[in-house]
Amino acid sequence: MFSSFVFPLLLLFSFYDMPSDAQKKKETLLSEKVGQMMEWASKRSIIKLNGDKFRRFVKAPPRNYSVVIMFTALQPQRQCGVCRQADEEFHILANSWRYSSAFTNKVFFASVDFDEGSDVFQMLSMNSAPTFLHFPAKGKQRKTDNYELQVRGFAAEQLARWVADRTDVHIRVIRPPNYAGPLLLGFLLAVIGGLAYLRRHNLEFLFNKNVWAFSALCFVLIMTSGQMWNHIRGPPYAHKNPNTGQVSYIHGSSQAQFVAETHIVLLFNGAVTMGMVLLCEAATSDMDIGKRKILCVAGIGLVMLFFSWLLSIFRAKYHGYPYSFLMS
Ligand SMILES: *[C@@H]1O[C@H](CO)[C@@H](O)[C@H](O)[C@H]1NC(C)=O
Repeated sequence: MFSSFVFPLLLLFSFYDMPSDAQKKKETLLSEKVGQMMEWASKRSIIKLNGDKFRRFVKAPPRNYSVVIMFTALQPQRQCGVCRQADEEFHILANSWRYSSAFTNKVFFASVDFDEGSDVFQMLSMNSAPTFLHFPAKGKQRKTDNYELQVRGFAAEQLARWVADRTDVHIRVIRPPNYAGPLLLGFLLAVIGGLAYLRRHNLEFLFNKNVWAFSALCFVLIMTSGQMWNHIRGPPYAHKNPNTGQVSYIHGSSQAQFVAETHIVLLFNGAVTMGMVLLCEAATSDMDIGKRKILCVAGIGLVMLFFSWLLSIFRAKYHGYPYSFLMS
């Protein structure tokens, strides 16, 4: 009597136990996928997908993350000017998310270019670019997961509103300032033009060693402070925490940087170089001994102060770096 009651119960339990293996497999597959997406996201704020990657990481289950995808055609021969503008705005949005302190593996930004994944365009029977689609973490795609580009435009702020509506992730759009380059160029041209004008009767300064040394130094400082990285990745100038209102100029990890950070590093490198130049002057110039002593002390001070400051910034970014000097 009892056993006839227990047996089916046992059967039931064993039945419920069986999928656990499949469950485990699914779990490892999921964490593999999330890990891969995070790795891509750490390299670029917009993950590039081709047909294979789209099927594996977006279409195929399991998936517990949302993906916002821009379908576009950026190859020059496609002559899609709108794609280019939309791409810029999408980059601003994705960077604002990627470098925000709220960044998680809940939402990823990706793009599919027609020339790398035309099969995806076919699969979704899509025939215009740019198009923005949201692939929700759970459930089916709804009509609102297709962004109404014609109605709302492609400004990063509008896209952010749509993403917030679809995913509950609120992104504060931070636009990088883009007047630094032209301003610097204008300043340089003005200095050169001014010099040439002042010395229009005597252009010997062109053969001046110091002028060339100074130009070379400027070039080296600009190139070694990470301006190229900024140019390619387009990070924000600094980050303001929307909750506390605190602004951080140094990104807390060695994986990324803010534009402000490169300016700070440039300044510090410049100060260390200045200290070195002063020390050289103190050793070799034919000024009187009192002045040379002052130069020497100033040079040592500059080098020590800014070198230790640089080291402390490096330590803050590269956790576990063992060496410090004066400042911790
Ligand atoms: C999705 O699942 C993976 C693996 O279990 C986990 O590491 C990750 O935090 C999950 N993501 C979200 C948004 O819950």
